[in-house]
Amino acid sequence: MTNTTNSLLKPSRKWLIYAIIAFVLFIGNVATNLVSKNLEEFVKPYRTVVWLFFVVALITAVTVAILDARRTSDRLASTAGGNLIAKSRQPIVNGGTEQEESKIEPSSTLIRPGSAPPLPSLIIGREEAMRDLKTRLGIAGKGQIPAPLQVVTVVRGWPGVGKTTLAAALAHDADIALKFPDGVLWASIGQTPSVLSELAAWGRALGAYDLLRASTVEEATAQLSALLRNKRVLLILDDVWEAEHAVPFKVGGRECAMLITTRVPGVAQALAPTPSHIYNLGVLAEQKAFELFQALAPTVATQYPAGSLELVRELEGLPLAIQVAGHMLNVEASYGFGVAHLLQELREGSKLLEAKAPADRADIAKEKTPTLAVLLQKSTDRLDNEVRERFAYLGAFAPKPATFDLAAMQAVWQVEDPKPTAHVLVERGLLEPVPGTGRFQMHALLVLHARSLLAE
Ligand SMILES: Nc1ncnc2c1ncn2[C@@H]1O[C@H](COP(=O)(O)OP(=O)(O)OP(=O)(O)O)[C@@H](O)[C@H]1O
Ligand SMILES: [Mg+2]
Repeated sequence: MTNTTNSLLKPSRKWLIYAIIAFVLFIGNVATNLVSKNLEEFVKPYRTVVWLFFVVALITAVTVAILDARRTSDRLASTAGGNLIAKSRQPIVNGGTEQEESKIEPSSTLIRPGSAPPLPSLIIGREEAMRDLKTRLGIAGKGQIPAPLQVVTVVRGWPGVGKTTLAAALAHDADIALKFPDGVLWASIGQTPSVLSELAAWGRALGAYDLLRASTVEEATAQLSALLRNKRVLLILDDVWEAEHAVPFKVGGRECAMLITTRVPGVAQALAPTPSHIYNLGVLAEQKAFELFQALAPTVATQYPAGSLELVRELEGLPLAIQVAGHMLNVEASYGFGVAHLLQELREGSKLLEAKAPADRADIAKEKTPTLAVLLQKSTDRLDNEVRERFAYLGAFAPKPATFDLAAMQAVWQVEDPKPTAHVLVERGLLEPVPGTGRFQMHALLVLHARSLLAE
């Protein structure tokens, strides 16, 4: 977590200043009274005015001090009671109550600690996924009887398929706001999370400032659990890479639900109570993928319909890749340059990996936007050298579309038993079994990444 965030998490001490002012005024009042006795004649005409002034100032200072102290005092259901929760019934969605929002510095307005990212500015082809996930969260469609609330749902999918985007859309959904009137808490976990800070951010979003002083994860978890016992909150853990990282965030009460997103099937399996609690988010259907491309590069889609469709097919419906290619082509077209060459280069792939990811994937803390290659590397960096090398070779020999059976893997890797390596690649989300075929698929973007690893 950044320094900005840390400073945001410090409890307010403003009430202390008001209390000191009140004390000084009180002493001043007493002193003036004593002195005035010796200057009776001189002070007499002003006496009533002076008294009135001190009384009004004293009452004002004391009132402000009490109000401010109450606001920042212990509202947390610390250990036993569990009832000293934030009084406000305003939803927490996107950054706590209005009072809290006004205190947040402008530099942190992009994503406030504990709250969801902004509503995605463009989301195409996810109506069904939204419906399915809402059903799991106990929200019925028109004329339907609501299904029981699924306490934990894990959304799993290829890198860049749109897991975070979908979760963010849910966080801003009106039905979700009705189902979870106390709001949505969001934590971006990532590969090296700062668990205590993220928990503290949730505490802060709930107005529980004592949680900021929790010195251990266990303490913070216990306090949050007490705080949420009778609340209806949707907890979202985005981008989980290790199952252990998610455990301290399981703080929801009976009427809360948790949505987890991950690239890693092994993590999904570890966190989902049963396989049916895992939601596999697929790539966009071809028509929707083309719709997305059209929205991003309308001129190109009109002038080069066949080339555009071909590109969209090559990118196999992956929103991340379509976003990047669409933006690049649109910029090129807006300069009045011909785009036929770029279209071809993008289809071949190398240009795509070196391109910057869309702006909503920028790393705010580092003020940098990663390239696609960097985003994909996150998945392969953690492999041991041998497995990474085998992944790279698989990409190099990949047919189109890139599907393999065990025999092909055995031949490429020149090993007796390819299963253990295939197992690791599937578990890390780099290969996906194609149900009922005995074959495994590698997404086109991962094929490009695998080839680039080999070139290194
Ligand atoms: N349905 C969609 N319509 C339009 N753009 C989308 C859609 N889904 C995702 N995107 C865009 O694609 C990019 C990747 O999406 P997102 O970050 O949600 O993927 P992800 O699955 O969370 O990736 P990762 O595995 O890296 O966490 C983002 O720039 C996002 O705005
Ligand atoms: Mg994500």
